[in-house]
Amino acid sequence: MRKITVTGEQGYEILIGGGLVSACGEYIRRVTKAEKALIISDTNVMPLYGERVKASLEAAGLEAYCFAFSAGEAQKNLDTVSDMIKALCEAGLTRKDIVVALGGGVTGDMAGFASAIYLRGIDFVQIPTSLLSQVDSSVGGKTGCDLSFGKNLVGAFHNPRLVLIDPETLSTLPRRYMNDGVGEIIKCGCIRSAALFEKLESCESFGSITEDAIFECVDIKRVVVENDFTEKGERMLLNFGHTLAHAIEKYYNFTGIAHGEAVGVGMLNITRAAEAAGKTQKGCAERIEALLKKFGLPTSVDAPVDTLCRDMLHDKKRRGNSINLVLLKTIGDSYIEAMPTSRLAAFFSEGR
Ligand SMILES: NC(=O)c1ccc[n+]([C@@H]2O[C@H](COP(=O)([O-])OP(=O)(O)OC[C@H]3O[C@@H](n4cnc5c(N)ncnc54)[C@H](O)[C@@H]3O)[C@@H](O)[C@H]2O)c1
Ligand SMILES: [Zn+2]
Repeated sequence: MRKITVTGEQGYEILIGGGLVSACGEYIRRVTKAEKALIISDTNVMPLYGERVKASLEAAGLEAYCFAFSAGEAQKNLDTVSDMIKALCEAGLTRKDIVVALGGGVTGDMAGFASAIYLRGIDFVQIPTSLLSQVDSSVGGKTGCDLSFGKNLVGAFHNPRLVLIDPETLSTLPRRYMNDGVGEIIKCGCIRSAALFEKLESCESFGSITEDAIFECVDIKRVVVENDFTEKGERMLLNFGHTLAHAIEKYYNFTGIAHGEAVGVGMLNITRAAEAAGKTQKGCAERIEALLKKFGLPTSVDAPVDTLCRDMLHDKKRRGNSINLVLLKTIGDSYIEAMPTSRLAAFFSEGR
């Protein structure tokens, strides 16, 4: 088993290893004096892993309750958060009790948010079960849900007490959700770790390096988040490929293209454009493209660049007359550049 420690006022440990789902109670017991735990999961994940988690919590002397909501991003709203809070009330959890978020990013974000606001904040533990949540959303303390006006518009920063990552859960994850995580892993290599990128290039299959890749991504996210918890500077690097990805996802109405796939196309396009503009070392785009192809992710979309640029200007990362773009110096090294909004369309179309 591997361990990563996030330091800071509300520091916590991230454990990575096979079998952690079944052994979770023992590790959770070490970080809490809780008497009760509410396991929050969705209708796909609860039947797969809920019993194991409940049994392990009970064996560790906790009184465990379960609450499952209908799976899917469409349910990531305040109504579902409200249902979670009702479940917390019904189970009678107090300030010293604990929530266990068991599932993908949708579960983690909402269960974390419910924990942040119930009784003005109680402890929670993340047991992420999708690759995306294992490498990205379970670390960093961002919690929340969507509104009809847009994604992740309400939320709170609330650190988990512990994150337990069991790569064995990926055996039941549908293939299309794997791409989401793979896209983010390639991103981590691009922005911070040439070694991770090279490992992805040289491995025989993703399966042979999964645990390694998860460890390295989590550690990259840890460093970035420790340096910049509230996302004013360095944390922005994690948005590499994302400004364009959000526009692509919106163009396809958030269906038909997975987030990680859109991130892949976003990274490739911005890197091509930055190479053409002399801002990124030549050859990076080609390596990103080869890696996307290797793992079966798309390398292009047919959404028109003008539409995408117009949409990017509505991105929340926009500041006045310029937009902050994350660019690569080279593979493993990234920086932020403020680009005048008037030059955005020309910048992207040159890279096509
Ligand atoms: N908080 C953050 O920093 C952060 C970062 C990135 C993304 N996010 C959020 O994460 C969400 C996306 O996460 P996601 O892709 O994990 O979504 P998700 O939670 O909806 O999971 C994807 C699908 O896989 C299923 N699933 C999960 N684990 C499984 C398993 N082991 N076996 C079988 N099925 C399984 C789920 O039921 C769901 O149908 C988005 O809402 C996004 O906003 C948050
Ligand atoms: Zn992402």
